[in-house]
Amino acid sequence: MSVIILGIESSCDDTSAAVIRDGILLSNVIASQKVHEEYGGVVPELASRAHQQNIVPVVDAALKRAGVDKCSLSAIAFTRGPGLLGSLLVGTSFAKGLSLGLRVPIVDVNHLHGHVLSHFIRKNENGEVPEYPFLCMLISGGNSQLILVRGYDDMEVLGQTIDDAAGEAFDKCAKVIGLPYPGGPHIDRLAAEGDPSRFKFAKPHIQGLDYSFSGLKTSFLYTLRDAVKKNPDFIEQNRNDLAASLQRTIIDILLGKLRKAVKQTGVRTVAIGGGVSANSGVRQAVADYCASAGLKAFIPERAFTTDNAAMVAIAGYYKYLSGDFCPYDAAPYARVMV
Ligand code: KG4
Repeated sequence: MSVIILGIESSCDDTSAAVIRDGILLSNVIASQKVHEEYGGVVPELASRAHQQNIVPVVDAALKRAGVDKCSLSAIAFTRGPGLLGSLLVGTSFAKGLSLGLRVPIVDVNHLHGHVLSHFIRKNENGEVPEYPFLCMLISGGNSQLILVRGYDDMEVLGQTIDDAAGEAFDKCAKVIGLPYPGGPHIDRLAAEGDPSRFKFAKPHIQGLDYSFSGLKTSFLYTLRDAVKKNPDFIEQNRNDLAASLQRTIIDILLGKLRKAVKQTGVRTVAIGGGVSANSGVRQAVADYCASAGLKAFIPERAFTTDNAAMVAIAGYYKYLSGDFCPYDAAPYARVMV
């Protein structure tokens, strides 16, 4: 009999549902919340209200697109954390309610594990997946981690940011040059037109495999402050070069640690994941590095870089296969490391 998993993701500002049958993706529906745009960041209370409005139609659409009746589901997987508590509560409560109604188990998924396991989402039987062990550079708005992945439930964080995440570095610097939130995709777009060697920003000297991005942010701000004093139109005239130089520096910081981690672990397969892995420069740099070092690279489809339920469903699928179910008194959690 087929194993059919409904995945539900509601950790931040995207409500998503996906259906996976025997490891193959049948549907992945995402409703993004526009309501936050005018505030320049996610407003938690508005996010949970929007999840409440979206969750029924999103789950319904995912089942319809998959051509699956809810009565044939084997289990419901949901993101239990980390994320915004109010948002997580919506997905968690919905999953519990539906599972009780359908008499199928629930499987809780760590959002970060979901990002790592997004490389196991296959659209057909021929889809290629990484072999264990592999190294995953998880770079998102809230996390920057280097993870040694030995199995779907065996992950070791080798290094992580000690201050800002890579996505925060993009977003905070983008804000000061007048770009809307989230700034990462705007920097990506402008960087394509700019000179990456025009400005030099500070790079951290952190021991081991930990990252730091707050020094870069300060250096970016100081460069602007001094330049704008002399020329009030500086940002307007140099936005593309600023974006390209910022992106180059973030890539250098990320790749520096990735190289070190590969050397240290001896792995032959490298993957990236999380929102920042949608960045064109990061994708190219990782592909180039892996090609030159003879490593196998897994670079996710852009749809699977940001928050999506397909990754929750695949993570839930593996947990389901090993009988790793979740009790009904499980509460969501806001913070956790891999
Ligand atoms: O993984 P994600 O959707 O959210 C978290 O779970 O944190 O990542 C969001 C982050 C934001 O900081 C956003 O600016 C960044 O991913 N991002 C990008 C790009 N697309 C999204 N950063 C750089 N270039 C992009 N193309």
